[in-house]
Amino acid sequence: MSIVFEESTRTFYLEGSGMTYAFFVNKAGFLEHLYWGAPIPREPLFHIRVAGSGYATASRPGRDVIDDPYWSYQLCPPELCFFGLGDYREPTVQVVNPAGDRLCELLYTGHEILPAKPPIPGMPSLSGGETLVVHTADAVTGFAADLYYTVYEDCPALARRILYRNGGGEAISLRRAFSFALPLPGREYDTLCLPGAWGRERRAVRRPLGPGVLAVDSKRTSSSSSMNPFLGILSRGAGEETGEAWGFSLVYSSSFVLKAESTFDGITLITGGVQDFDFSWRLAPGEEFAAPEAVLVYSGEGLGGMSRGYHDAFRQHLIDPRRAWEPRPLVINNWEATYFNFDSDRLLAIADAAAGTGIDTFVLDDGWFGKRNDDTSGLGDWVVNGEKLKGGLGPLIDQIHQKGMKFGLWFEPEMVNEDSDLYRAHPDYAIAAPDRSPCYSRHQFILDLTRKEVRDCIVEAVNRILAAYPIDYVKWDYNRTVTESWSPALPTDRQGEFAHRYALGLYDLCQRIVKANPTVFFEGCAGGGARFDPAMLYYFPQIWTSDDTDGEERTHIQYGTSLVYPLSSMSCHVSVCPNHQTGRITPFATRGAVAALGAFGYELDSTRLTEEERKQIREQTALYRRDQQLILAGDLYRIDDPGRGNFFSEAVVAKDKSRALLVTYRRLNPCNGNPHRLRMRGLDPARRYRIEEMNLTLSGAVLMGVGLVPRYERTDFSALRLHFEAE
Ligand code: DGJ
Repeated sequence: MSIVFEESTRTFYLEGSGMTYAFFVNKAGFLEHLYWGAPIPREPLFHIRVAGSGYATASRPGRDVIDDPYWSYQLCPPELCFFGLGDYREPTVQVVNPAGDRLCELLYTGHEILPAKPPIPGMPSLSGGETLVVHTADAVTGFAADLYYTVYEDCPALARRILYRNGGGEAISLRRAFSFALPLPGREYDTLCLPGAWGRERRAVRRPLGPGVLAVDSKRTSSSSSMNPFLGILSRGAGEETGEAWGFSLVYSSSFVLKAESTFDGITLITGGVQDFDFSWRLAPGEEFAAPEAVLVYSGEGLGGMSRGYHDAFRQHLIDPRRAWEPRPLVINNWEATYFNFDSDRLLAIADAAAGTGIDTFVLDDGWFGKRNDDTSGLGDWVVNGEKLKGGLGPLIDQIHQKGMKFGLWFEPEMVNEDSDLYRAHPDYAIAAPDRSPCYSRHQFILDLTRKEVRDCIVEAVNRILAAYPIDYVKWDYNRTVTESWSPALPTDRQGEFAHRYALGLYDLCQRIVKANPTVFFEGCAGGGARFDPAMLYYFPQIWTSDDTDGEERTHIQYGTSLVYPLSSMSCHVSVCPNHQTGRITPFATRGAVAALGAFGYELDSTRLTEEERKQIREQTALYRRDQQLILAGDLYRIDDPGRGNFFSEAVVAKDKSRALLVTYRRLNPCNGNPHRLRMRGLDPARRYRIEEMNLTLSGAVLMGVGLVPRYERTDFSALRLHFEAE
């Protein structure tokens, strides 16, 4: 792995695991992209450049190494784009100068190669990796942009971000401040995105990229379930394990946008970062704006290679290293068992019935605090509800600990109900626009995290509970999105800063609560999986994937989520049937097998289980503990996409290829159906593997080339777990 600058050609070669990235500084000082793909030798790449045809609407003569009189920014594959000098593509940055013009021409002024990546103050980002910083500036205004590139030797990721600086003498306003620009050659690509809704998070959608601009975005001041901050670009024929894929993922939790522009100049331009709709940012002289990090992954092994690249990058460089590889708590959560209707006795009965089954952590969900008997009141009052928890939280935790289980507690720190002591004392802490009554959502408002005094109040209340009781686990929920993006703390002309300042406030909150309580295990959550993004993974090693725990629906949600996020980051629980979200009935074993492809647990009333279900829980937890190293550290190979047929199959293979777990699920049982020939993936073709459950030993070559035929139960919604051990 290395970053090299070749003086003679002014070319940067960034060589990371499985990829080369190259660009050069042209005669004018513009950063011109050359290549991003499979590793190549360090050779000059100028043969791909051609002279302009003369049609360009605005040329910048004499600015090209090939002395093309028609050279134009519009025709140039850029490392960053700016508007107003003949480039009509999606700009990376737009600035309003003191004179009111919106021009900038960011040209090379120097660079540094750093042995380790500096963190972004106040923002989550990947760690480690050799880093190139290229300095650019506008000679007229002094506006500057530093482009950061980090490569890794252990994953095919490229971390990119831009730091903008006002180097002039007067204040300027940023109207757009994206994190990267990346041109790919040609226009024949498919796009992949992860749209969704509550209960239907991250449903993968692939479609051809046509002319114009495709945007995936959120305007919700959160990354949202409506669209994940990820965009994939795929070569047209790319499949699960073949063809090329380029991934773009933002380490960001607020409103974002990612765009793919197919231009008639033969380039597909990808760009994105902080949502620029409803955005502005004032920069006083000398001030900086740090765009969030984007994690780019190149794969020459289709979607599977891209996903494994992200999983490695996030496990190795994003998720807290103390947690990333640690066996996860095996949780029982009381939410679907009781909703708000519980007292200490009821909770202890659930914990009692779970103790001894292999479940090792009891998580008390919503409703333990304030006057919280339904969702209309109590949020913001982080004081124990003594009517429900007789004797308080202490005795409950003690008794759970005495059963040999850990104790977890639910919070929704960013929220307040109108009917709460906090709101009565500080109504102005809730986000609302002047003179308008705010929108309600689940009867609650969001606290204005842009204000330090509001954050201080939350940190004090949550940390007081965490300091007072021996709490092992916290579930951090977030159940609505921002409607009125306004804060009294910001001047009128700076309200466009609200959404990004909310993200910075959230990160500050996480830093002061999550990082300040290192012994507590934190799980993220957002009304299901509505804030499942890399920035939250930086703080929370696992995130509740969806409120939809139906075995069938989960195959789609987990399939889509796995495109970017590691299995160990997805909280997946077995719940009861008929399923509370869909009314569907699926076998207990199937729910267990599907949930085992994640951070496993239960979301049910353990006092109402049949003996057979209790037996199955004991088996499922034992199996999960046996397989957990695969889930934590293995390579994921998706085999059957549940959106394309009757099956969902995923294999997790140990890095050394000594073991594998295959989960395969058949949705409907057709009468007299054809056998399902399933070809394994990811094994070593030269080794022989014993499949325990089939009492069969075959070579990896046969298992992957010829395949096997799983013997599903003769019923709908049937799943099998098969274990492969190399001899
Ligand atoms: C939404 C979460 O997704 C659920 O798991 C549960 O914690 C509820 N909120 C509680 O209000």
